[in-house]
Amino acid sequence: MYFDPKDGMKPPPFKHTVYNALVVPRPIGWISTISTAGVINLAPFSFFNALSGEPPCVMYCPNGFKPGSTEAKDSLTNVQETGEFVYNMCTVDLLDAMNKSSAHVPSSVDEMAEAGLEAAACEQVKPPRVKNSPIALECKLLQIVDLPAPKNSSPNNMVVGQVVGIHIADDVIVDGKIDAGLVQPLARLGYLDYAKITADNIFTVPRPD
Ligand SMILES: Cc1cc2nc3c(=O)[nH]c(=O)nc-3n(C[C@H](O)[C@H](O)[C@H](O)COP(=O)(O)O)c2cc1C
Repeated sequence: MYFDPKDGMKPPPFKHTVYNALVVPRPIGWISTISTAGVINLAPFSFFNALSGEPPCVMYCPNGFKPGSTEAKDSLTNVQETGEFVYNMCTVDLLDAMNKSSAHVPSSVDEMAEAGLEAAACEQVKPPRVKNSPIALECKLLQIVDLPAPKNSSPNNMVVGQVVGIHIADDVIVDGKIDAGLVQPLARLGYLDYAKITADNIFTVPRPD
């Protein structure tokens, strides 16, 4: 089939927005920020990725308003006001906490505590990292890019940051490498589906040159 996205994202026979199932698997950027009042915010973003290696840069996309309002998501407001965010790796054992942290709660709620997670202080930025996440990247804001907005004009934004500090749990470093089978990253598929990276589905392919 073929369809033009300007005619909507649910062409027959699709019952749900199909776009989220078209670019998969996606990494989950589990983003911590802090408000100017000092409240910790945590939320998952699957419109997330690493952009460059040296210097390392990453991006996440807070899209749309908070449901039922014309208020920007806290992950956007906080980074606009403070210029800092932290990427936390979401792993299989952190699935429930990650899902909890996607709930829309008032800006006054500490979403790390709300998800039952312990915060750990960062070195170079104010937002804390998720202590039990094996990998965290401290980031300073480089740029916020306005993306095209839908008809109801709720905003779409790409937040680009430069990584200024890197945390890696010692127990996932094996023979001088990160052991992804020990990290067990979680990936986002379409709809409400996820995929697990575990040791038995990792393989190595040498490059041709
Ligand atoms: C796995 C997962 C991925 C998500 N990815 C995105 C995303 O890329 N962009 C987005 O705006 N919301 C995404 N959401 C929804 C946000 O996490 C949710 O709106 C969250 O409450 C953000 O709110 P806050 O920044 O106000 O805390 C995702 C939710 C889940 C569970």
